[in-house]
Amino acid sequence: MKLQHCHMLEILLLVLITSVMSESSFPKPRHSRLFKSALQQQALNEQQWDLWTPLPNQGWKPCIDSTSASPQLPDSSGYIQVFLDGGLNQQRMGICDAVAVAKILNATLVIPYLEVNPVWKDTSSFEDIFDVDHFISVLKDDISIVRELPDEYAWSTREYYASAIRFTRVKSAPLHASANWYLENVSPVLESYGIAAISPFSHRLAFDNMPMEIQRLRCKVNFKALTFVPHVRNLGEVLVNRLRYPGDESTGYLKEVVGTKGGDGAGKFVALHLRFDKDMAAHSACDFGGGKAEKKALARYRKAIWHGRVLNSRFTDEELRNKGRCPLTPEEIGLLLAAMGFDNSTRVYLASHKVYGGEARFSALRKLFPQIEDKKSLASSMERSQIKGKASLSAAVDYYVSMHSDIFVSASPGNMHNAMVGHRAYLNLKTIRPNMALLGQLFMNKSLNWPGFQDAVVEGQRNRLGELKVRKAKQSIYTYPVPDCVCQQA
Ligand SMILES: *[C@@H]1O[C@H](CO)[C@@H](O)[C@H](O)[C@H]1NC(C)=O
Ligand SMILES: *[C@@H]1O[C@H](CO)[C@@H](O)[C@H](O)[C@H]1NC(C)=O
Ligand SMILES: *[C@@H]1O[C@H](CO)[C@@H](O)[C@H](O)[C@H]1NC(C)=O
Repeated sequence: MKLQHCHMLEILLLVLITSVMSESSFPKPRHSRLFKSALQQQALNEQQWDLWTPLPNQGWKPCIDSTSASPQLPDSSGYIQVFLDGGLNQQRMGICDAVAVAKILNATLVIPYLEVNPVWKDTSSFEDIFDVDHFISVLKDDISIVRELPDEYAWSTREYYASAIRFTRVKSAPLHASANWYLENVSPVLESYGIAAISPFSHRLAFDNMPMEIQRLRCKVNFKALTFVPHVRNLGEVLVNRLRYPGDESTGYLKEVVGTKGGDGAGKFVALHLRFDKDMAAHSACDFGGGKAEKKALARYRKAIWHGRVLNSRFTDEELRNKGRCPLTPEEIGLLLAAMGFDNSTRVYLASHKVYGGEARFSALRKLFPQIEDKKSLASSMERSQIKGKASLSAAVDYYVSMHSDIFVSASPGNMHNAMVGHRAYLNLKTIRPNMALLGQLFMNKSLNWPGFQDAVVEGQRNRLGELKVRKAKQSIYTYPVPDCVCQQA
């Protein structure tokens, strides 16, 4: 009784908020016709059952273990140090590449240094995020790794390289450098000084023309050697349990639950990565329906951050949408999921969701999917205390929960999306890859009704649910691990 009462209040509040909102210039459902139909959509979906079934065996299996059985490592040619920029998922790729470069050079890898990102400002080190013992032990037959440099090289620090030109710094690694580039340019530094610090290093190792052994090692690092520290995994596990068994006291934190429970077995859930922050909104140069004020604010931001030099701003909104270059708004990702057959009993876990425009913009999604959860709604502040204010640790928890979801979807193709597409493909897990160009076109068509929209979406998302795709030249092995690290079953 009490539960229902609360729910009624919530609906009332929503109605109130909505009516206030629609009078202001703040984002309101932009695709109001579609939105209304989506809200009224009954659970008529026979597709639902299909949606939740795991992917069938596609005839491929992971193949990352090296075939050469020579546990004897060659003598070390010196120490390799890297300093990694970017957010957690970009740094992750950098770590995998650093192991590969150390292998190419027969060098000893120093546990990579994670730079503090100027936007996210998390000072967590490698050891604060990843299980370093596990990392070293999984890779012990592949390369040698040290946590820190021996005393004789202790001078080789980030500060040392920041303050002057140093001979041991390799600054000139081109984007997607070949294995030979490292042999020709870094080996001599190791020979002369016993150490080489490569910075910048992000995206500095090619994906093509690499020995098979190196490709598999990169995958082994990404999919096997990199695991998060226990407290991150534990919090992730707590969240996953509460998503699967809502209202079950044994999962600890009791939450009031409305709507359908997951039957007697474990409930299913979708993990939704919803990065729709100001940075991304501004950079895309798309119009998100927030009116003149929003357009101006985004233009000002572009000017301040990129001095107006944003390629996308040369195109009209229509051109950008036609090309699928606009990140999906919370409303649009909601409509996509609704059209695919997810209904209001679907549990959704929100990974990373600083939404530009705030709750006003977010509420459309919440109305379609009232059972939307995040770390805050699922875990107490006590339970979250160890990751509080730490963007990388928070992203690590999201990574963990997203990997354990039945279905993953992202509203924008960025690093997190790519990391999930690759890691989930490796494990044959379902991942929705939104057909951005098609969606862009559908959302512009104001004469499209709900059934038309739904048909077009279902058709357009066919074969975009985690079907394995073979990597094309230049594509990342971390996004497309087939066929380098996932091989055809005999
Ligand atoms: C879900 O949608 C159905 C059909 O529109 C509606 O009857 C029901 O009250 C909704 N449930 C929730 C929890 O919003
Ligand atoms: C690395 O070690 C292997 C095996 O001892 C050797 O064949 C290869 O030439 C070495 N490469 C470099 C760059 O030292
Ligand atoms: C918009 O949708 C209608 C109805 O499905 C369709 O007939 C029309 O061709 C579409 N317009 C564009 C520009 O795609």
